[in-house]
Amino acid sequence: ESYDMGGHDTYMHKEIHEQVDAVDRVLRGRIDDRFSTVRLGGLNLDAREARGVRRVKILGCGSAYHTGLIGAQLIEELARIPADAEPASEFRYRNPVVDPDTLYIAVSQSGETYDTLAAVQELKRKGARVLGVVNVVGSAIARETDGGVYVHAGPEVCVVSTKCFTNTAVAFALLALHLGRIRDLSVADGKRIIAGLRKLPEQIAEVLGGEEEIKKLAAEYANAKSMMFVGRVRGYPVAREASLKLKEVSYVHAEAYPASELKHGPLALIEPEVPTVAVLPDDDLLEKNRATLEEIKARSGRILAVAHREQEKADHTIVVPRNEVELDPILMGIPLQLLAYHTALALGRDIDKPRNLAKSVTVE
Ligand code: G6P
Repeated sequence: ESYDMGGHDTYMHKEIHEQVDAVDRVLRGRIDDRFSTVRLGGLNLDAREARGVRRVKILGCGSAYHTGLIGAQLIEELARIPADAEPASEFRYRNPVVDPDTLYIAVSQSGETYDTLAAVQELKRKGARVLGVVNVVGSAIARETDGGVYVHAGPEVCVVSTKCFTNTAVAFALLALHLGRIRDLSVADGKRIIAGLRKLPEQIAEVLGGEEEIKKLAAEYANAKSMMFVGRVRGYPVAREASLKLKEVSYVHAEAYPASELKHGPLALIEPEVPTVAVLPDDDLLEKNRATLEEIKARSGRILAVAHREQEKADHTIVVPRNEVELDPILMGIPLQLLAYHTALALGRDIDKPRNLAKSVTVE
């Protein structure tokens, strides 16, 4: 993509709409249908090394950290390797135990975020193997890591990350599939995930087609005192990222919680002026999530659900197309980008340059 606005008023809007092509690009040339495997030329991790990985630790900041949460779940689900994500700054300040059997992955749009780069350098000093999942080719993190996956989102100008977030999540799905097929993911499951990945661009276009509806919802919720975002397991990183996005661009206060934690404190905040956005994929946790909606309704909370079918308990539902359950977080985040965008627009915010924020933080 170019820096030309192409008829969009803001880069954020342009970049949200570029996701259809961007996702197509991160997949292009990387899938081998004969064996249902993935080719990642720059990974620099052979099959023997991949089999020796006992744990995966993903590090990043802001939206990159949130894609790391999605990445960790994908790696656990598809490759059955214990995996987790941590903010890069927390990791480097706590003098972590650096384990030779752990694969470390630094994730960054710019490849220049100081905290993430410093974490990579500390890991390298201690002899760890570190890969990068990075957008900007040839950036500092891309150079200092042992190999990795480029996310090919194209230039992202808006401070708030959208297309790069989505493409990074897809890049993690490819990496998870690659590691899975080297370990014990079946050909059939590989095929199923590949078919799901290929459906994404068309399904993203479908979600974006609902923009007018989301704009109306944004107008309805824009005057909230605060917003709660909840989800369970696959829905939780989506809730976290949506909450961050809303805060960054609209300055509406928002909190994200695992849905099951609501009753351990935040339920006290629920009232009509504090609506909840609930992310409810049609997976084995749907019934539990519906029970959470009932708890919120019982406290007169308003609910906006993002789900695969209309939710009775919710005041409004944004219905997203079904894909493979493992890939749900990728698609479910997209309507919530539009919700943040239209909330900010309704409130007259400076969308591409929110106050107090920088696109990349290259100082400590
Ligand atoms: C800044 C930006 C965030 C971004 C974070 C990490 O704080 O405002 O939107 O997620 O840096 O940036 P990176 O380039 O490392 O992904």
